[in-house]
Amino acid sequence: MRIAVYPGSFDPFTNGHLDILERAARVFDRIIVAVLVHPSKSALFTTNKRVKMISEVTKGHKKVRVVHFNGLLVDFCRQVGACVIIRGLRAVSDYEYELQIFAVNKQLEPDLETVLLLASPQYSFLSSSIAKEVARYDGDVSTLVPPVVAEELRKAFNPRRGKKQESAQ
Ligand code: PNS
Repeated sequence: MRIAVYPGSFDPFTNGHLDILERAARVFDRIIVAVLVHPSKSALFTTNKRVKMISEVTKGHKKVRVVHFNGLLVDFCRQVGACVIIRGLRAVSDYEYELQIFAVNKQLEPDLETVLLLASPQYSFLSSSIAKEVARYDGDVSTLVPPVVAEELRKAFNPRRGKKQESAQ
């Protein structure tokens, strides 16, 4: 069985992430989405919330499991028996960062491969930061993130707007 790990901060998970995940699921037998517990990075959503949202988004995908991880990615991959790391590449600007991650992981665990999937053109501009920026100013994020995530972004940035609409119904 070919197990792949799809790691990231996923703060929050976007339609671009979902696209990479679904395409990777066509190639590998099992994909473990590994949400990084990042002590030094201030995230909008807690790790548990991020895991919960991605689990909800991917609940129809039998091959996909969602967990959080601490520490080195290579150690996590060893623990779960993964042979491949999946990463998405949007543009040339991502390349240096991905090359750096690849090089470190290859040094630490030579048997572990990294597969870079090119973002589908409609998501080549999309990032978690962009989705948060649009949501912060009450913009429409419905094409940027899955509905579950859009709702959580709404609650995080514009809690009153939703309540007003709900009470008006
Ligand atoms: O979504 P991100 O923030 O670009 O993902 C980065 C991630 C999680 C892949 C990377 O930071 C990571 O693997 N962190 C775990 C610690 C580690 O293994 N570091 C060495 C490789 S950078």
